[in-house]
Order: sequence, then C-alpha cells, then structure tokens
Amino acid sequence: MPDLFETMENCRAMRRLKPDPVPDDLVAKILQAGTCAPSGGNAQKWRFLVVKDRKVKEAATVWYKKAYDEVIGPRYSSIAPPPGVSPEKFKRQHDAVEYLTDHFADAPVWIVACLEDGANPGPGAGASIYPAVQNMVLACRAVGLGTTLTNRHMIHQKEVDRALGLPEGVHSYAILPIGYPMGKFGPVKRAPLGEVVFQDRWGEPYRAA
Ligand SMILES: Cc1cc2nc3c(=O)[nH]c(=O)nc-3n(C[C@H](O)[C@H](O)[C@H](O)COP(=O)(O)O)c2cc1C
Repeated sequence: MPDLFETMENCRAMRRLKPDPVPDDLVAKILQAGTCAPSGGNAQKWRFLVVKDRKVKEAATVWYKKAYDEVIGPRYSSIAPPPGVSPEKFKRQHDAVEYLTDHFADAPVWIVACLEDGANPGPGAGASIYPAVQNMVLACRAVGLGTTLTNRHMIHQKEVDRALGLPEGVHSYAILPIGYPMGKFGPVKRAPLGEVVFQDRWGEPYRAA
C-alpha cells in the first residue's frame, strides 16, 4: 500500500477505464473506506448503490450526457485553464471529460453515493457525503483502481434518481465510475500554496509557503 501523502499527490482523475471486471472484495474494501468517513453528528445517513447492470447505468448516462451537451461541453470551450494548468493540459482534461461522458456506462462498476436526507435537503447536505466519497476515491487509488468524483448528473438529479430507482427521500450526490485504468496514475497539478493560503489577514502571505 502506498503512503497516504503519495496516494493523495498521485490521485488524478482517471477517466479512461478498462471494461475488465473489478473483484467484489475490492469494491467492498472501497465501500468500507467510505463508511470510515465522518458525517454530521455521526448520523451516517449515507447509502451506497453499487451498479453493475448495464441497463441501469445506461438509463442514468442519458442524463449525464445531456448535461454535458447542454452545459459542461460549451463551458469547457469558453473558459480559461484553472490555476497551475497549461492550456495543453486543460485541452487533455476536456478530451478526457468527453471520453468519460461517452463511456460512462462502460465502467464495470459504479458506486453511487446517496444520502437519505428527506424531502428538502438543506444547502449543507453534501457535507455529510463528500468525505465518504473522497475516502473511496483514495481507496480506489490505493488498490490500483481508477475513478473520478463525478456529480454532473445532479444537473438532472431528479431524473437520475428515478433512473437509478432510488426511493423517496434518498438523493444521489456522486457517481464514482470505477475500473482498472488504461493510463498511468500521475501527479495532480495545483496552484502553489502561496497563491491560495493567507495568514492572519486575507491577502497577507502565508509565511510557511
Ligand atoms: C464536486 C466535483 C464534481 C465533479 N464532477 C465531475 C464530472 O461530473 N465529470 C468529470 O469527468 N469529472 C468531474 N469532477 C472531477 C474534476 O474535474 C477533477 O477532480 C479536476 O479536474 C481535477 O482533476 P485532477 O485531479 O486529475 O487534476 C468533479 C470533481 C468534483 C470535486
């Protein structure tokens, strides 16, 4: 098992996945890592749907792709690269995002991270599921599986929840498409600390950066 910091530093979004099956014991290990996460009041209102059935994946993918065609694709074509990312790298990211959109249902297994959060989840609801999601992303990396945190489907959340057969009061917050990666894991590219951390007063440089 790699060191935790090494895992975090080399946990880039893996969007090109092989269709080879993923052993159930690894999926269970990943889910176990998810349930180690904190949740508000330790309420653990998370629920996870493991999806391997292609028909179910395809029904949800219709909405994921619609959101790409209508919102995300046009946005990628019009915005500047994020901090620390060159235009070439940003173009590769866009290509990978489009690839995953076209192959979403080909990922051998999805973990859909849900919350049993009732009829009107508050604005902070996701705070009790994304720690579990990130634990699972890191667990995938640790066992050599590729994944990407995705939540674009939430643009059409109601329709996707229906396609996934979720009961009333349960909502999906993230879909992790999981599989063995086609490419190599690599280091993430981020802005340096000096650009994003301040000390004592907003705008004052963080002295340890
Ligand atoms: C809240 C959130 C939602 C995201 N949704 C998607 C998504 O729907 N599709 C996708 O391909 N990537 C999605 N991502 C992945 C980000 O695009 C990715 O983490 C970011 O580009 C950094 O990638 P890197 O770690 O490879 O540098 C999402 C990430 C976050 C945190």
